[in-house]
Amino acid sequence: MKRLIIGMSGATGAIYGIRLLEVLSKLDIETHLVISEAAQKTIGMETPWNVKQVKSLAHTCYDNRNIGANIASGSFLNEGMVVIPCAIKTLSGIANSYNDNLLVRAADVTIKEKRKLVIVARETPFHKGHLRLMMQAADLGATILPPVPAFYCLPQTIDDIINHLVGKVLDIFHIEHNLFHRWGSYETESAMAAQEKNEGVDMAKEWPEGLSYHPIYSDPPPKDPRPQ
Ligand SMILES: Cc1cc2nc3c(=O)[nH]c(=O)nc-3n(C[C@H](O)[C@H](O)[C@H](O)COP(=O)(O)O)c2cc1C
Repeated sequence: MKRLIIGMSGATGAIYGIRLLEVLSKLDIETHLVISEAAQKTIGMETPWNVKQVKSLAHTCYDNRNIGANIASGSFLNEGMVVIPCAIKTLSGIANSYNDNLLVRAADVTIKEKRKLVIVARETPFHKGHLRLMMQAADLGATILPPVPAFYCLPQTIDDIINHLVGKVLDIFHIEHNLFHRWGSYETESAMAAQEKNEGVDMAKEWPEGLSYHPIYSDPPPKDPRPQ
């Protein structure tokens, strides 16, 4: 059975961590969860979940102050760790091995043991200091995977956007999923075909079967102003 460490820190986007835990709880994967103090706040502020409910999705939960927990040791075998979402403070801790809480210590151990560390770093805009921290973490071997949505996979809802991010995380650990339409799938090919067939025409009518425009796209595309 695969074991994954999940760290949730206090950036906006607690729902990303929750969705990852939801998905993993349905797979044959043992999750070891640590939630920072700030993330305990964002969970309540941003989602309908409470911390207890989030913890119930994991196989094992740890107190962030418990720097003696098993995930603080390299001898605890696992596939790696995901910090989702990752606030700049936690990113800074990881990039500088400032291991004063369990989440950061577990991430540092993941790096030193040469296991996979995925950092869903969230802030916007980034200043150069943030970018440097991401460079530092990437140089140490971490994968920086900011929550940046893709639109080629035809998201219809906010849920689709969340699932896309979570699917990208799972891809890194080679965990199979069906969370988004991959480029070249039937759905994206059909959208391409509709686009080629209807350039400059009302695409809304030709959208692939089963897909509808999300309200944010509800205005029809502007008419092609060029002479026809
Ligand atoms: C609702 C809310 C949203 C926040 N969003 C972010 C964010 O996107 N990125 C970030 O770096 N900090 C964000 N913060 C601030 C962090 O929570 C704060 O810096 C905290 O000290 C991070 O601690 P941690 O990294 O130990 O979780 C947010 C705080 C709140 C209350």
